[in-house]
Amino acid sequence: MRVLILGGDGYLGWPTAMALSEAGYDVALVDNYFRRNACVERDLPPIFPLLTLHERVALWQQLTGRSIQVTIGDITNFDLLERVFQTFKPEAVIDYAEQPSAPYSMLGPREAHFTVRNNLCGTLNLIHAVKRHAPDCHIIKLGTMGEYGTPNIDIEEGWLEVEHKGRREKFLYPRQAGSLYHTTKIQDTDMLWFYVRTWGMRVTDLMQGPVYGMITPQIRRDDRLATCTNYDEIFGTVLNRFLVQAVVGMPLTVYGKGQQTRGYLNLIDTIACIRLAIDHPAAAGELRIMNQFTETMSVNEIAARVCQAAGQMGLNPTVNHLVNPRKEAEEHYYNPTHNKLTALGLQPHLLTDAVLMEQLAFIQRYRARIRDDIILPRTTWA
Ligand SMILES: NC(=O)c1ccc[n+]([C@@H]2O[C@H](COP(=O)([O-])OP(=O)(O)OC[C@H]3O[C@@H](n4cnc5c(N)ncnc54)[C@H](O)[C@@H]3O)[C@@H](O)[C@H]2O)c1
Repeated sequence: MRVLILGGDGYLGWPTAMALSEAGYDVALVDNYFRRNACVERDLPPIFPLLTLHERVALWQQLTGRSIQVTIGDITNFDLLERVFQTFKPEAVIDYAEQPSAPYSMLGPREAHFTVRNNLCGTLNLIHAVKRHAPDCHIIKLGTMGEYGTPNIDIEEGWLEVEHKGRREKFLYPRQAGSLYHTTKIQDTDMLWFYVRTWGMRVTDLMQGPVYGMITPQIRRDDRLATCTNYDEIFGTVLNRFLVQAVVGMPLTVYGKGQQTRGYLNLIDTIACIRLAIDHPAAAGELRIMNQFTETMSVNEIAARVCQAAGQMGLNPTVNHLVNPRKEAEEHYYNPTHNKLTALGLQPHLLTDAVLMEQLAFIQRYRARIRDDIILPRTTWA
């Protein structure tokens, strides 16, 4: 099957590309290096040194004999995306190509404007490219569990049956995001739903929780295949940041009370979920929404687990509670459903000491590259 990955140079995109290529899919990538350039511009180097995308696919070919096509370009440019669709003719497309950072979207008007334009115009171009050149192509779009916020009722998988004055209707589950970035994800979902209703497209929208980890079977083969993993306050995500803090001997920085609870998953499981979505496509005219995480944890629980695993390696991190730079509930009800991917066959890799210790050991090899001055939060929602 021909699978096009938009955002194929990113934290999730590159490991997905290698895993699908190894599994026999015909893979093509598009990326405009937004993430790399933003890291250079803001002086936020990732943990591991990164080859360019062309160098990565050349190394991949040398190691495996498998080829991956690369286009360096911006999917908000419709002509470019159209050319890729005309030549590659994808049967499935995975859309990772967005500005993915909540703090980045809250930095100021320039970054807010960029986030809205990049994320929404990219999604719109994708919809039009599929309609024009590959109407049967299955769109697999990365949403986020953050679209739902933290409501005081159970979170369903995408939809909610509502009874009102004696009549019933099924609606998209109410969404209430906690950042501009998360708001663009809601708007993406609304746009996809409009075009599914109007043009009968096949779409899977994966409401994914924060992903952790930086090791997949392909990356274990050669460090030079490492993915773009950030630990700074803008592009780093909580668990990966805690791992880095444990390695450099900094206190793990919990924002506020630390009772904020979310659904997390291992990078390996993200890839497994994507494969399940590809192999079991949504029907024509269906917006299928699946909640993509394997276990819920509070920030305090994550910090405690990292401390426990690090302790077994002779590292002894402490935990420091900071004034929360974000505006979010620090104590709340959280009970999201996540049955659909399990029903398709997902077998979770949960957050065990062994998983944490393997990541810690990997980061330790690159300890000299880590800068402790870029970890603490400076971006606030105020
Ligand atoms: N990483 C997580 O924990 C997580 C959790 C939930 C949802 N997501 C979503 O998953 C997707 C991938 O996240 P990630 O962590 O890999 O982010 P990432 O920034 O590492 O990857 C996104 C890639 O897309 C590229 N890109 C951005 N805009 C583009 C454009 N207009 N044209 C071409 N390429 C473009 C970037 O250069 C980058 O390489 C995002 O949509 C993100 O919102 C991620």
